[in-house]
Amino acid sequence: MQVVQNLQNLANDFRQYIYDWHHKVETREPVPLEKLHIESENLTPGLLYDPTSRSRFRRIIRALRRPSLEGFTFIDLGCGKGRVLLLASLYPFKKIIGVEFSPELAHTAEMNLNTYRPTSEQKCKNTSVVCLDAAHYKLPPGPLLIYMYNPFQDQVMKSILSEIKRVLDAGTQDLYVAYLIPKLSQLLKNSSFLVPVHETPVFSIFKGQRTR
Ligand SMILES: C[S@@+](CC[C@H](N)C(=O)[O-])C[C@H]1O[C@@H](n2cnc3c(N)ncnc32)[C@H](O)[C@@H]1O
Repeated sequence: MQVVQNLQNLANDFRQYIYDWHHKVETREPVPLEKLHIESENLTPGLLYDPTSRSRFRRIIRALRRPSLEGFTFIDLGCGKGRVLLLASLYPFKKIIGVEFSPELAHTAEMNLNTYRPTSEQKCKNTSVVCLDAAHYKLPPGPLLIYMYNPFQDQVMKSILSEIKRVLDAGTQDLYVAYLIPKLSQLLKNSSFLVPVHETPVFSIFKGQRTR
């Protein structure tokens, strides 16, 4: 069993390496956040930059069951080196935004957006990276697809949930949250404005609804 697991890990590492080499970017290497210079009250021990794999991202997009993503702004809260921003750029989003509180990772994400090739396969080139703690990020008006790969502890998630409620109450109609490794799923479910529409052990998708 352990041998099979080791072989799977090796194959996965190889795929990540090929992805970076092929697209002229550096997104592969995980980084423990303790090694970075982050000034935030929300930096807690044990957090890590780790990229989403292309196959997982595709599965998440398929599970949304949206005929079109045109008009949606895609936001990766905790974008790290920007792998998900690059994967999202293959879809016709109106805009793609990464939010990252590590200046080093945010800088790498910007570099990766600049060096990514071939640009001809990108359907959205309207991309930006904001270096900020996600707890303080103000969401733009919708339609929105908010992506999170297990980045936060519950205090940060609670701030994000208030912000989601604010944009829903302000009239945003189409809002989805795609949550990979959904450890705080219960917090989202307990809200009156996010309804789970697709759940697997690996990721959950929620749809926003107005509360008044
Ligand atoms: C598991 S990585 C995911 C990276 C990227 N979203 C992906 O899927 O490829 C989580 C990222 O969230 C960032 N992060 C954690 N807490 C944050 C916060 N409060 N504000 C902004 N970024 C945060 C970390 O620095 C890290 O880059």
